[in-house]
Amino acid sequence: MTKIAPSILSADFAKLGEEIKDIEKGGAEYVHVDVMDGHFVPNITIGPLIVDAIKPHTNLPLDVHLMIENPDQYIAQFASAGADIISVHQEACPHLHRTIQLIKSEGVKAGVVINPATPVEMIKPVLADVDLVLLMTVNPGFGGQKFIESVVPKIKEVASLRGENGYHFEIEVDGGVKEGTANTCVEAGADVLVAGSAVFNKEDRGEAIQALLASRV
Ligand code: DX5
Ligand code: ZN
Repeated sequence: MTKIAPSILSADFAKLGEEIKDIEKGGAEYVHVDVMDGHFVPNITIGPLIVDAIKPHTNLPLDVHLMIENPDQYIAQFASAGADIISVHQEACPHLHRTIQLIKSEGVKAGVVINPATPVEMIKPVLADVDLVLLMTVNPGFGGQKFIESVVPKIKEVASLRGENGYHFEIEVDGGVKEGTANTCVEAGADVLVAGSAVFNKEDRGEAIQALLASRV
C-alpha cells in the first residue's frame, strides 16, 4: 500500500499544528520534515525546535529529511526532539556507514538519500542497514520544482536490489510528485510518496492525498 508523506515545507508555518492535524485526518501516513541549512542546499528552513513543537500535535511518524552538512552533529538533537525516521544524504556523509549506525543508536529508523545525479551504486554498501531509501526526484532545496524523469530507472534499480537481496527498507521519492508523476513512481517501485505543493496548495488536503493515492497499483 502506497503511503503519502506530506512535506510541511509547503504548509502555513503560522498554523503548523492545525496543518498537521488536517493531513493526519486526510490519510497521510508520515509527516515529512525538510531540514535545510543554507550550506548543503541554498535554502534555510527548520531545526529541532520545530520538530519538538509539532510532536505533540500528531500520532504520525515524523520523517525527518536532513539536507545539511555535518549531519552527525545534529542527529541526537533531532532524535530527542521526536524524529521517528532520520534520513541523511550520501553526498553529505564521508563516513556514511558510521552515520547510519549513529542514527540507529539513537533508537530511530535510519534513511539514506541520494540526489538525482548520484548513482545507486554509492549507497549499495549500506542498503542492508537502512530502513528507508529516499530518491530525490528534484535537486533538493525548494518545494514546487519539476519532477526529473531520469530518476525513474533508479527507483526500479533500488526495488530490484531489495528483491534480489531480501532487504527490508521502504523506497521513498521526494520532489515534483503530483498526480501524473505519482503513478510513474509507484509503478517503478516507490512505497512512500513525499508531496509538498501537491498537498498543501489544495484547499482540501484529504482530497489531495486521495488523488495521489489513486495512483496506487
Ligand atoms: C525538496 C524537498 C521536498 C520538497 C517537495 O528539497 O526535500 O520535500 O518540499 O516539495 P514538492 O512536492 O512541492 O516538490
Ligand atoms: Zn524532503
